[in-house]
Amino acid sequence: MGDLEFVFFISQVSVFYYFLRRGRNFDMHITVVGTGYVGLVAGAGLADFGMQVICVDKDSEKIAALKEGTIPFFEPGLKELVGRNTANGRLSFSTELARAVGQSLVIFVAVGTPSDGQGGADLSAVKDLALELARIIDDYKVIVTKSTVPVGTNRWIKGLIDKNKNNPVDIDVVSNPEFLREGAAVEDFMHPNRVVLGSDSQKAIAIVKDIYRSLYLIETPFIMTNLETAEMIKYASNAFLATKISFVNEVANLCEEVGADVYHVIRAMGLDRRIGPKFLHPGPGFGGSCFPKDTEAFARLGRDYDSPLQIVETVISVNLAQKERMVTKIENMLGGQIAGKNLAILGLSFKPNTSDIRESPAIALIQGLLNKEAGEIRVYDPAAMDEFKRLFGPDQLVYAADPYLAAEGADAVVIVTEWNEFRNLDLSRLKDLMKEPLLADLRNIYDPARMRELGYRYESVGRPAITQPAAE
Ligand SMILES: NC(=O)c1ccc[n+]([C@@H]2O[C@H](COP(=O)([O-])OP(=O)(O)OC[C@H]3O[C@@H](n4cnc5c(N)ncnc54)[C@H](O)[C@@H]3O)[C@@H](O)[C@H]2O)c1
Repeated sequence: MGDLEFVFFISQVSVFYYFLRRGRNFDMHITVVGTGYVGLVAGAGLADFGMQVICVDKDSEKIAALKEGTIPFFEPGLKELVGRNTANGRLSFSTELARAVGQSLVIFVAVGTPSDGQGGADLSAVKDLALELARIIDDYKVIVTKSTVPVGTNRWIKGLIDKNKNNPVDIDVVSNPEFLREGAAVEDFMHPNRVVLGSDSQKAIAIVKDIYRSLYLIETPFIMTNLETAEMIKYASNAFLATKISFVNEVANLCEEVGADVYHVIRAMGLDRRIGPKFLHPGPGFGGSCFPKDTEAFARLGRDYDSPLQIVETVISVNLAQKERMVTKIENMLGGQIAGKNLAILGLSFKPNTSDIRESPAIALIQGLLNKEAGEIRVYDPAAMDEFKRLFGPDQLVYAADPYLAAEGADAVVIVTEWNEFRNLDLSRLKDLMKEPLLADLRNIYDPARMRELGYRYESVGRPAITQPAAE
């Protein structure tokens, strides 16, 4: 037995004695705070691993809806996972933090950490929660942070709780960053590429590792490390993925200038195992609830420590420029004038299979088109219409019931999100409905030659522009 294994063995023994001392049965009781994309998936997933889970949120409407079986957002497989585990009694929902925490050994933190508007992470929800926990904790607890938080935050959380606690009890903190992707969140949580656990406390690591035992039984790699390293892993991973996207977007833009085809460039690059094919797809710039704010917060961390992350800074500015470039692309396609032109936008969520529109490229694009006084903008998305209506209001845009109604009378159709539904459009029907056969495919889902054959003027990203229809 190596040193680490020995430490782990001793920790497991101490977990066992912890339960014996408390005279409890061996069911692990967990509170998950925050029932957003991460908290709800994690809560339901942990219940599926056999834990007793209470998901707590301060949003009482959300909790009431969840108690009725309504999932507040679209995420494939989540309704079934939640339904199965509420039915078997392992998953429940509450707004009462104190009661849930009183019954739990482990508290997972999954509250939001949005941008603070100045490039940093807004940690107010984390701070409020830590102070609330300090007030109510009356026994040893392990606080596990799943929210993405800047390096140093977990130590700060422990300090806040220790300084403000009402009762003289020990707590430990564990950083357990989450890597799930919206749209595949359930699958990612149940079969992650790795689990990262950072802590100063071997006992806490052993407790959390025990919670994830279903995963190490399927040989999921576990990275056990200190708090700062775990926090750094999350930001470095997201920043690297964002870097791949901005890199390939710049390559695609250059391809357009020199007459190269990015499709073949990325295919050939991706076949190099040192590079890999993932996250090498050019498009309208990255969005979503994570990459924009996490790259900003990571760059800010570098500046704060006088250790600049110049690549990440550039990734952010390249991404903003890419979003603006899409407006120009459409303007050029329309002969240099957007004013008065009717446009159909297909795809509003920041990526397929989610209703999440946070930082979606569709928002920047539509705002850019509105700024240039576009005519009627009709939009369609399979899942994110309500979210968009909340953001843009009911009157600024026309919300179409399907892609064909959106395309009716349009001077151009723009595909912004690569939902499967848009991969199999009846292109002849679509063309017949449009005023002009212009299609901007910002996700490169169609073949330029075929579009030309069908009589479209077709634009994509990084592939030779075929602006004229084929001769009759
Ligand atoms: N969404 C993703 O794909 C993803 C992936 C990995 C990591 N993360 C990180 O996970 C965290 C959560 O992200 P999300 O997308 O699930 O956020 P979200 O905004 O969808 O959900 C956060 C939830 O926390 C609740 N909340 C806030 N303060 C609370 C409090 N004091 N008590 C109880 N509930 C409270 C809110 O009401 C909300 O329901 C963020 O730090 C994010 O960066 C997100």
